[in-house]
This record gives sequence, C-alpha cells and structure tokens, in this order.
Amino acid sequence: MNMTNIILLGPPGAGKGTQAARISAEYGIPHISTGDIFRENIKQGTELGKKAQEYMNKGELVPDSLVIEIAEDRLQKDDCRNGFLLDGFPRTVTQAEALDNFLASNGGKIDWVLDLEVEKDVLMKRLLGRRVCKDCGATFNVVGMPPKKEGICDNCGGQLKQRADDTEETVNNRIDVYNNETKPLVAYYERIGNIRHLDGAAGLENVFNEIKRIVSGS
Ligand code: AP5
Ligand code: MG
Repeated sequence: MNMTNIILLGPPGAGKGTQAARISAEYGIPHISTGDIFRENIKQGTELGKKAQEYMNKGELVPDSLVIEIAEDRLQKDDCRNGFLLDGFPRTVTQAEALDNFLASNGGKIDWVLDLEVEKDVLMKRLLGRRVCKDCGATFNVVGMPPKKEGICDNCGGQLKQRADDTEETVNNRIDVYNNETKPLVAYYERIGNIRHLDGAAGLENVFNEIKRIVSGS
C-alpha cells in the first residue's frame, strides 16, 4: 500500500479543516489537527487542555515542546501506517525540523505540503461567520455554507457554536502570528521542493479538485 503523508499549510480560516475532512475520506488517511486535539483536551478539562487554553484564547502559539510531543505521540498510532494528513502542524521551523527528524528516523518523509493561500479580508469574514457543531465538529458558515436549519448541525442535529478564538481581536492576532511564525515554513519547504500553492479563496469543490490533482500526481 502506498503511503501518503500530507501537510496542510495556510492561515487561520484558509479552509484546512474543511478540506482535511474531504482528503481524509478520499485517501483513507487520518486527519490530525493539533488544534482539535487541544480543543478536545480543553473540553475534557485535562492538564494539557488547561495549559493550551491560555495560549489559544489569545491567538498565540502553544509552546513547541508541548506541541511536538503531542504530534509525535499521535503519529505513532497504528492508523498512520498508510499515511496521514497534518492540519495546523508544523507551525514553526522548530516544529518542522522536529517532524522531519522524527519521520527520517522511521524511514518516512512528507510527500506534499499543500499551501492554501487566502487574503486577510476573506479570512476575517470566514472566521467571524464560522459555526462548528459542538458534538461532531462539522463546520459551517453563516455566509456561503449555512446549515439547513439555523444553529443546528446538518450531520448530527447538534448545536452549532462559535469558536472561542473567532473574535475580531483574536483573529487579527492569529493572522499576525501566522505571518511571523508560520510563513517561514513556505521557504523551508520550497528548499525541500515538496510544497504546492493553491488558491484557497476558490470554491470548496475547486480547491478539493486541485488537491486531488496534485496528490494523484497528474
Ligand atoms: P487551529 O485549530 O489549527 O486553528 P487555525 O490554524 O487558526 O485555523 P482554523 O481552524 O481557524 O481555520 P481552518 O484553516 O481550519 O479553516 P476552516 O476549514 O475551519 O489552531 C488553533 C490554536 O491552537 C492556535 O491559534 C494555537 O494557539 C494552537 N495550536 C494549534 N496547533 C498548533 C501548533 N502546531 N503549534 C502551536 N500552537 C498550535 O474554514 C474556516 C471557515 O471558512 C469555515 O466557516 C468554513 O465553512 C469556511 N470555508 C472553508 N473553505 C471555504 C471555501 N473554499 N469557500 C468559502 N468558505 C470556506
Ligand atoms: Mg481548523
């Protein structure tokens, strides 16, 4: 079986989580979102959740050491044998180097880094309009991708909520943090040669078709 290891890169609101759900289903690889792992820990009230929440609510990055440990633990699970899809990790050059070392020591590598490019004004609109199901995590948007019934999840009937970090002030900071800390990864992967840039402002299906075209190597 072919191994497909993918990283989804892009600013907050670029559509990483939205595309990840589709890619994961299409290729049968697990969707690993460090943000989702932290949010689940916050919900469960774990020590890790308490530590991460301080940073997340301000739109700051959780310290590298903590994130790297969590990501490596997750990547050692059996379901990653045939590949994986990383969403929101790595987010700093230190994290990217740690990931490369970890994969190299297991004889692996990243096949594709898919960089979803979206302008700031679009990101802001998307994040302020985002609604997430508190039960199954499905994501909607009051503009463009509304649920069939206001406030209710199409998939499971759960209640839709706004994320705690989707306020104008926090989104502004998250975008600044992205530009300062995560953007350097573009040059990092350009050097390796496995990054592809996509227009993340295109429609959902168009972005997904472009991803499939890249991953299938056509
Ligand atoms: P994380 O959960 O990763 O959040 P993020 O990177 O800020 O990204 P988002 O989840 O907000 O956006 P997305 O790209 O997934 O967009 P989505 O698909 O939902 O991280 C949160 C926090 O955790 C960080 O701030 C940090 O504190 C911490 N953290 C996590 N990982 C870390 C790490 N590695 N290191 C350190 N700290 C870490 O789409 C957004 C909206 O747009 C939705 O409403 C959707 O419906 C809509 N939409 C999507 N695609 C389209 C489209 N094509 N057209 C129209 N609308 C669309
Ligand atoms: Mg996300």
